[in-house]
Amino acid sequence: MRSVSFEQSSVGNAARGGLPAWCYDSDEVMALENELVFRRNWLLVGHVSQIPEPGDFMTLDVADERALVVRGRDGQVRAFHNLCRHRGSRVVAEASGNCGAVITCPFHGWSYGLDGRLRGVPFAKSFGQLDHASHGLKPLGQEIWHGMVFVRFKGEGPSIAETLAPIEAAVAPYRLEEMQPLENRWRMAFEANWKATVDVDNEGYHVPVAHPGLNDLYGHSYFDEMLENRIPKAMGSFGDRRHKLWSVRHYAKLLPEATHLPESHRQAWIYYGVFPGAVLTFYPDSCGFYQFLPLGTRRSVMQGCGFGLPDPRREMRAARYLNRRINNAAGKEDIQLIKWSWEGMRSSAFDGFVLSDLESGVRAYHDRLREVLPVLNLAEAPPQGTLAQRNQELRDAA
Ligand code: FES
Ligand SMILES: [Fe+2]
Repeated sequence: MRSVSFEQSSVGNAARGGLPAWCYDSDEVMALENELVFRRNWLLVGHVSQIPEPGDFMTLDVADERALVVRGRDGQVRAFHNLCRHRGSRVVAEASGNCGAVITCPFHGWSYGLDGRLRGVPFAKSFGQLDHASHGLKPLGQEIWHGMVFVRFKGEGPSIAETLAPIEAAVAPYRLEEMQPLENRWRMAFEANWKATVDVDNEGYHVPVAHPGLNDLYGHSYFDEMLENRIPKAMGSFGDRRHKLWSVRHYAKLLPEATHLPESHRQAWIYYGVFPGAVLTFYPDSCGFYQFLPLGTRRSVMQGCGFGLPDPRREMRAARYLNRRINNAAGKEDIQLIKWSWEGMRSSAFDGFVLSDLESGVRAYHDRLREVLPVLNLAEAPPQGTLAQRNQELRDAA
């Protein structure tokens, strides 16, 4: 059963409209979102198992910021700005890899220890009296939750552990912190404003029509709900009915019993949203994440990775392969829907959303954005060049 129905609705028509179309195509909104949303919330970079050895690193680029997460010689995982203190180059060029015993900037060769300290400067005397101690890599707010590495570029507020406390007990049996990568981080970039990407992911109303694989897997059992701390949860279960599609049928049949999980979770796919754009996924055979991030006003990326407990059984390997196959199809289907929806917002015929109670996750998400960006309540865009100031006035007046 779904958790809400039209009969229970207390939402007036005015609240069904969603964010105005203009804000899905505005460089000024994007600049404010970068500053107030992406720089000031915890963002997921990956899992500690992706950087097991000293010198292993992974990165995250977003909101004109660049994060570098690297494992030190002492085994510690640390986060820095991926920003050379000489002239601002990246200090690691690749998205992930191993930098050896030192991080050497590809521009002029300044080198840093894995703990961020400035170690070497070519032709150091040419800088006069350069203070090495104050020119190390700049550290970044970092928190590791069940092996998942989060960073925050600016601001304060609850830790990720405090934020995710409502799901702590449900997540613990999966032993996410012990898991190993099942794949390399995947990444798909496409044309759309980032909010249009998260909109599609924040409701399950589209699942029966748009995702044949997911619908065949969990059908009417799927439901969305909002947990404490405004954590969106979606859950669907399977195994109690005949599945039609080859991949789904074999997944349900081959999946070994997940005896480390409570019975209610042994045949369930569960998703928890982490504002602003990440989703943690919990399956009986594996866990993972995916996230939507802006690459600009009109371009976004969807990226993620899967993790599992070491398990050499053939049937587990097959189940994980089929899980990935079902999820890959759903991801491609979502990207198509995102594009169509976002294109539609720019049409002269677009009159705004009409959100059902089954899309309450979208409304909750918009409400959250409106809290920091009250300018998104305006039906029309403010005159060019005034948006940041107008937003501040609205915040001050609230
Ligand atoms: S910018 Fe890094 S060494 Fe010059
Ligand atoms: Fe979807």
